[in-house]
Amino acid sequence: MELKGKTPSESKTIMTEMVLPNDTNHLHNLRGGKILHWMDIATAIAASKHAGAIVVTVSVDQVSFVNPIKLGDVVTIIAKVTRSFNTSIETHVEVWAENIPTQNKYKCNEAYYSFVALDSNGKPRKTATVIPESDEEIEQYEKALKRRQLRLIIAGRMKPEEADELKSLFTVNQKK
Ligand SMILES: CC(C)(COP(=O)(O)OP(=O)(O)OC[C@H]1O[C@@H](n2cnc3c(N)ncnc32)[C@H](O)[C@@H]1OP(=O)(O)O)[C@@H](O)C(=O)NCCC(=O)NCCS
Repeated sequence: MELKGKTPSESKTIMTEMVLPNDTNHLHNLRGGKILHWMDIATAIAASKHAGAIVVTVSVDQVSFVNPIKLGDVVTIIAKVTRSFNTSIETHVEVWAENIPTQNKYKCNEAYYSFVALDSNGKPRKTATVIPESDEEIEQYEKALKRRQLRLIIAGRMKPEEADELKSLFTVNQKK
């Protein structure tokens, strides 16, 4: 059965949290593990809504923590699907924080989380395609193929010579 494609907006997920004392390290900044947890939840909801199924996290790409998030600040996590393949779905997530009294808003980090849609037996199942609309969504969609190939190479699931989009990064030209 052909699954109907969906736009990223249909599953876009925005989560808002406040940094409480229990979420912080001894510098009174939000702990990295807590941010990763919130990012995982927001992206899983977006991927799950897109797939109309239970999803499991299969991969998390490199995450850099650019700005620390202070105790009491409000954190907004914005997750969107970028592209789906056969059973897997790539999502992009951005984390912003705001100090409410000063209204200072700052970006903290972003990352790509990938998920696999599962059927009722816990086996990977086909997922709906993504129909990008905005220029940014189209760019994310097009570049997703390169990111997927890089991920699969790093995970040892694809040979560099099979990665059409990336081959030149891994192979040297044999012609003299
Ligand atoms: C995710 C899982 C079901 C995949 O099982 P599998 O036997 O590898 O299944 P497949 O080989 O059919 O791969 C399924 C999809 O995952 C993708 N995949 C597998 N490993 C990947 C990786 N490291 N990075 C990105 N995608 C990956 C495959 O490319 C395939 O995508 P496609 O169908 O869109 O082409 C299995 O690895 C699993 O259960 N992992 C644990 C998940 C988990 O517990 N997450 C944390 C809690 S939610």
